[in-house]
Amino acid sequence: MTTEKVMIFDTTLRDGEQSPGASLSVSEKLEIAQQLAKLGVDIIEAGFPVSSPAQFEATRLCAEQVKGPVICGLARASVKDIEAAAKALAVAKKKRIHTFVATSPIHMEYKLRKTPDEVLKMAVEAVHCARQFTEDVEFSPEDACRSELAFLCEVLSAVIEAGATTLNIPDTVGYILPYEYGQLIANLKARVKGIERAVISTHCHNDLGLATANSLAGVRNGARQVECTINGLGERAGNAAMEEIVMAIQTRHDFFGGNVTTNINTKEIHRASQLVSQLTGFVIQPNKAIVGANAFAHESGIHVDGILKKRETYEIMTPEMIGLGGSRMVLGRHSGRHGFMDRCRQLGYTLSEKELQAAYDKFLEVADKKKEIFDEDIAAIINDEVRLVEQLYHLEYLNVTSGTGTLPTGAVKIRTRDGQVRQAAAWGDGPVDAAYEAIRQATGQTPKLDNYNIRAITSGKEAMGEAVVRIKNEAGRSFIGRGVSTDIIEASAKAYIDAINRMAAYEGTNYGEKTTL
Ligand code: KIV
Ligand code: ZN
Repeated sequence: MTTEKVMIFDTTLRDGEQSPGASLSVSEKLEIAQQLAKLGVDIIEAGFPVSSPAQFEATRLCAEQVKGPVICGLARASVKDIEAAAKALAVAKKKRIHTFVATSPIHMEYKLRKTPDEVLKMAVEAVHCARQFTEDVEFSPEDACRSELAFLCEVLSAVIEAGATTLNIPDTVGYILPYEYGQLIANLKARVKGIERAVISTHCHNDLGLATANSLAGVRNGARQVECTINGLGERAGNAAMEEIVMAIQTRHDFFGGNVTTNINTKEIHRASQLVSQLTGFVIQPNKAIVGANAFAHESGIHVDGILKKRETYEIMTPEMIGLGGSRMVLGRHSGRHGFMDRCRQLGYTLSEKELQAAYDKFLEVADKKKEIFDEDIAAIINDEVRLVEQLYHLEYLNVTSGTGTLPTGAVKIRTRDGQVRQAAAWGDGPVDAAYEAIRQATGQTPKLDNYNIRAITSGKEAMGEAVVRIKNEAGRSFIGRGVSTDIIEASAKAYIDAINRMAAYEGTNYGEKTTL
């Protein structure tokens, strides 16, 4: 039996980053892209180059530095967009331009204010234009699932004729049901002229919680590319989650004819999931399929008994398959620089000499408070201390006093990027509120605190606490910040400053600009 590959097209950096609050810096995007390459994704959609200088730069950097996958840039059906994508992708060894235009009656009439004939012309011209820069051109009829089938077939046949090599079928608003989506793909396969020369792709949103189910229905009916994001990140309810698609195809290969596979190295799934969660600040719900903290946890007596007798009684996948488990190494102060460096390498971190020194210094500080350092502690140290966004403000000193019958007060010392030291003291309703007021006074930034969360992320009495905050600037744009420390007030202050740094970076450089499709 010949194997059939389902290509994995990852759009975490483009569609995923359209999640409110999930603004990633250019260097964070590059780091995620490198992990996606390790994971073995076939295509990385690195950005929407025309939409902002940061999107352009992220796409260009991925094109220059990420080896292995095809690097793709998104472009509306316009020459300006396509030229920007082509320019950003110019240095890529393998590049794809992904162009799109809406084909549903509601989008054509109210959003585009174009007739179907005009849309058809735009689609064909866009594909022709993109083909001047690369032979690998993807076309998406946006809102395909609410488009009229006859018109959809007409547009898709025409773009194949114009040179499109991948036809993506987006369920832009997450409206369709699995049976219908399967039928739609089967119908397109039967009716679109020249379809045998193109790859059919799925692109499903999760508004009804069906993105994974719909994508799999597409695969079952002949789609051979799936567009998805790590942890299902994405606008509104998100996109189809890559880890769910890949593990479903692997676990239920019998359902897909026994010969359908992906190129994904599933052992890298857990790390990719953690990285995306840490860098975006989007916490993974414990019961999230595949990558949630409880995804492989067994509590009930009957289940535990069953697992001990035969694992498969209650486990359809093993944690090892997604890169969890194995030996649980514990480090301590006496592991030394070498031991620490070794473990970082085994965990997949590539650090410069300066980053390693910063991480090791923090490791020693944490090891003084917490005897046993687990892998999660190391990940927290590296993500919190080493991989910082362009920092306008750095917390140098924090002192908070609170207690029964005392007015909570906070004092901070903050160093700015240009070396100024700013101090402030304030009181508040509680210790975190007091620290935040002092930070607002010291930085002069007054964002609205929209959400605040704290949780323990590692084990032990002196567990590391992670604070995640969401703030809003005056224009109502959200920014997420994370902070980690064994002291939860310090974690909270760091998270607030991290979010303020992201907001300041955005306001100063347009980084993280959101696109409206
Ligand atoms: O959801 C959508 O329609 C999109 C397109 C740009 C492919 O993201
Ligand atoms: Zn989308």
